[in-house]
Amino acid sequence: MEEEVTDRVLRSFADCADPRTREVMRSLVRHLHAFVREVRLTEREWDLGVDFLTRTGHITDDRRQEFILLSDVLGVSMQTVAVNNEAYGEATEATVFGPFFVEDSPEIEQGGDMAFGARGEPCWVEGTVTDTVGEPVAGARVEVWEADEDGFYDTQYDDERTAARAHLFTDADGGYRFWGLTPTPYAIPHDGPVGQLLAATGRSPMRASHLHFMVSAPALRTLVTHIFVRGDELLDSDAVFGVKDSLVKDFRPQDSGSPTPDGRDLADRAWSRVRFDIVLAPDGT
Ligand code: BEZ
Ligand code: FE
Repeated sequence: MEEEVTDRVLRSFADCADPRTREVMRSLVRHLHAFVREVRLTEREWDLGVDFLTRTGHITDDRRQEFILLSDVLGVSMQTVAVNNEAYGEATEATVFGPFFVEDSPEIEQGGDMAFGARGEPCWVEGTVTDTVGEPVAGARVEVWEADEDGFYDTQYDDERTAARAHLFTDADGGYRFWGLTPTPYAIPHDGPVGQLLAATGRSPMRASHLHFMVSAPALRTLVTHIFVRGDELLDSDAVFGVKDSLVKDFRPQDSGSPTPDGRDLADRAWSRVRFDIVLAPDGT
């Protein structure tokens, strides 16, 4: 019987001292064995799978994390987000973290510019951070990062630039405001094994345009999310399944020369503006 080996492997974990490790490993084995039986996996196919994982490991280094990318395109990252960020009242929804967050981003003042020279159309971003009973959260740390208009994060360039990323702190009323870039669509890195997987399965590497946020404050659940651009054609086909309706926002186009909120001179450039009010759930929910 094919299931016999499954039972034997499951029993082999009987002496595992940590109950959670035992639970996770037994479930993993049950699902992996069921998958092999269901698709009648051939030995050649399993060799190809092992080779794929080997290449995924070999291309991974400090700057490139192909395993996260694999988890993202298989929807495992979003499934884990769903399991760990249960809906709580009006709390803002979370979405995938992605591989481009960097610790120690530069701090900007309220109204500052997080572009630091990155190419793209200026975008005024403003909103508030509150808790689920509507109290403003002063001093919340708001991390933001995004790709430039050529579709690249600063870490994808060979120089050591820091651009299109920053953090700021909410004011006494929970408000925040800054200049960023109007998000544009971009392709996730697809010159490696994950790109081959996408090509072989007829899938696109394109992500819907977005601006990343990570918002944290004492006693509140840290929120990792992004906002998407209403009207973007890619909203229904995001390569990593990150889009949620509640995160699609109106980025309102503004003509060049129209007055800016802080008096910045954009006489010869179009710009846009968006509002994103953020609600944080209590910690431990
Ligand atoms: C990102 O949005 O930065 C991202 C997310 C998942 C995979 C690649 C990039
Ligand atoms: Fe991104």
